[in-house]
Amino acid sequence: MPDKTMLCLCLDITEHDLDRAVAEGFTDAETLKRYTAAFMGPCQGKSCMDTILARLADKTGVDVESLRRPTMRPPAHPIRLGILACLGDANAQ
Ligand code: FES
Repeated sequence: MPDKTMLCLCLDITEHDLDRAVAEGFTDAETLKRYTAAFMGPCQGKSCMDTILARLADKTGVDVESLRRPTMRPPAHPIRLGILACLGDANAQ
C-alpha cells in the first residue's frame, strides 16, 4: 500500500507521488513542480515548499540549501493590497 503521508495539502500530493516523480527523473524543484503541480495550489507552496524541498534533497542526496526554488508566478488577476491585508471587500470595485 502506497504511503499516504501528505506533503502538499492543497493538491493531495503524497510522499509516494513525490518519490515516484523523483524516480522518474524529475529531480529539481522546477520540473517537479511542472510534473506534480506541487506549489501550484491556493497557498502557492507557502505550506509545502520547505517540506517538499527537504524530501527532494533527501531522495537525491543534494544539500537542500543548493536546491533552486521554483519560479513563483504573480496572481492571474490584480489583487488590491487591502484585500490581501483583509481590509476590504473582495467584491468591491
Ligand atoms: S500545500 Fe502545496 S500548494 Fe498549498
